[in-house]
Amino acid sequence: MPALRVEVAHDIEACRRTVPIQEEVWSGDVVVPPQLLLAVAHNGGLVALGYVEGEEAPAGFVFGFLGIYDFHFRHHSHMLGVREPHRRTGLAVKLKEAQRDHCLDQGIDTIAWTMDPLEARNAYFNFAKLGAFARTYGRDWYGEMPDRLNAGLPSDRLYVEWRIATDRADRRLRGAEELATLEGAESEGVRWLLAAEGDAPGTAAALADDSHLLVAVPTDFQQLKARDRDLALRWRHAVRDALEPACAAGYAAVELLRSADRTRGAYLLVKQPR
Ligand SMILES: CC(C)(COP(=O)(O)OP(=O)(O)OC[C@H]1O[C@@H](n2cnc3c(N)ncnc32)[C@H](O)[C@@H]1OP(=O)(O)O)[C@@H](O)C(=O)NCCC(=O)NCCS
Repeated sequence: MPALRVEVAHDIEACRRTVPIQEEVWSGDVVVPPQLLLAVAHNGGLVALGYVEGEEAPAGFVFGFLGIYDFHFRHHSHMLGVREPHRRTGLAVKLKEAQRDHCLDQGIDTIAWTMDPLEARNAYFNFAKLGAFARTYGRDWYGEMPDRLNAGLPSDRLYVEWRIATDRADRRLRGAEELATLEGAESEGVRWLLAAEGDAPGTAAALADDSHLLVAVPTDFQQLKARDRDLALRWRHAVRDALEPACAAGYAAVELLRSADRTRGAYLLVKQPR
């Protein structure tokens, strides 16, 4: 496995190097201009490029800015992208670690970002590998989006929060925790708020007083969307009908659980103390 390294961007040339990655990962319709990236990097934000040994062009990048939320400083991570050939290499985690180090140096303890709740891979990355959680659901958050990953469906989002100075984050980054499985949650009797019926969503059940709940998501949403746009839209509405009221009632999504054979995935929701 070639060595990986992360370099913080300090000049316009480094910021320009994100553009081909932006174009490749999201398609060329929406590109954050390098001049804006540089302005943000010079004002407390972070642009960092990920390199794979032996390649001149960067393989990925992360971009975020300083923000204020609930009267506290936090870092809002706007983009994380790794080019397809370099996925599953650990580079994405390295980029998040660099972002975490940058924020810890600033005395900031939370990094937040938005995530399409139907993207099981991103959910697994965020919850299982980083130790983040989400307790806020936003309907059609960014309105209509033209890029390849988002076009054609309402842009519902979970607002992901990553408490970077916690034992949980530390242990997840070190891979030091045995992760729960979907079968484990099922055998403990965790109730399905939304179950899948084959590759289609069922109907969201009513909330009761469960401490834990499961919400099914498709295993590969982009593939499903390319195959059947109507089915993708049904998933969007079904997951919205489950997660939106659950978040409003005080549940947080804390894991994306997978079945042992990886053919099924579901959010584990936990009721938060008020
Ligand atoms: C998000 C992104 C940066 C993650 O990088 P990556 O290299 O794919 O991430 P990793 O391989 O380290 O982690 C993904 C994990 O999800 C798992 N995974 C993949 N598909 C999955 C699925 N359908 N369901 C559940 N888990 C899945 C992988 O197995 C991996 O876990 P593992 O290392 O334990 O095997 C990259 O996929 C990307 O650029 N995506 C497009 C842009 C994007 O969506 N960015 C995020 C929002 S801004």
